[in-house]
Amino acid sequence: MDQPIGTGAEIARIEWTSGSILLFGGPYSNYHATVALRRQAVGLGIPATHVLCTGDLAAYCADPRATVDLIRDWGISVVMGNCEEQLAQRRDDCGCGFSPEMQCDLLAKEWYRHASEELDDETKDWMGRLPGHAVIEGPGFQLMAVHGSVSKINRFVFPSTPWSEKRREIRASETAGIIAGHSGIPFTQIRGGALWHNPGAIGLPANDATPDAWYSLLTLDTGGVRIEHRRLAYDYEAAAERMRCAGLSHWYREALTNGCWPSLDVLPPAEHRRTGRPIAEFTRVWRAPSDHDRTRGTKSPLTAAPLHTA
Ligand SMILES: [Fe+2]
Repeated sequence: MDQPIGTGAEIARIEWTSGSILLFGGPYSNYHATVALRRQAVGLGIPATHVLCTGDLAAYCADPRATVDLIRDWGISVVMGNCEEQLAQRRDDCGCGFSPEMQCDLLAKEWYRHASEELDDETKDWMGRLPGHAVIEGPGFQLMAVHGSVSKINRFVFPSTPWSEKRREIRASETAGIIAGHSGIPFTQIRGGALWHNPGAIGLPANDATPDAWYSLLTLDTGGVRIEHRRLAYDYEAAAERMRCAGLSHWYREALTNGCWPSLDVLPPAEHRRTGRPIAEFTRVWRAPSDHDRTRGTKSPLTAAPLHTA
């Protein structure tokens, strides 16, 4: 069941006038992956002001407290995920909207309880102050970052989700495109000059039978915005061992090493069929509609680019 978007702090704004922005989702209590990504950002010379996480800091893995502390110390922008919203409200479930018969629901009880017990009140209160949306102010365009979608914090939007539904969300945002998380699959789609981008998650693999996590790098270029989907190699064996030591069951621990999710309940048929098929790193270029395009209702040249379905 969907639920309304979080009612956190006012909308965050990120000024982006040059260089790159690093985007990622779902740290999921995976401290080792988060450390690796921060190192990657430092190596790429990207300041914390140009890094954004689409939420769900604490979930499946062993180290919610260390992961959240690391994110806060890093000083990056974070959009509230359903996990933050639920933890902040002291709820007893993750808020993903799983039905009781779903295996996801059964598995979530364990990791959510672990996260809730590990995190103190001050941290949960901080989560409750996170913004539900963030606006990235680029040169001549805006993008909105959300967790699930603009209208629902826990809405799963996949590559196969009809474009008409994505377009409705983009229009509701009153920006040129959406950066979303929650679904854990990296993909970029461009249609009619509008953008839907999910950088993927760093806390779990992308169900593609490889242990790597995913993030993205958006770079301002003369031809538009270059969107690079990148793998993140990290010490997944150490992260899995931490889960064993924490007494968490084997389901998500094995996912860290074999790269496939323990439950496919949330996946539509198209994404279900892609289970276990490695995703290649890929790059797309997006050109924001110009004022002229918007006025004339014409499509930008890149709207003819093939739709990418990761
Ligand atoms: Fe989520």
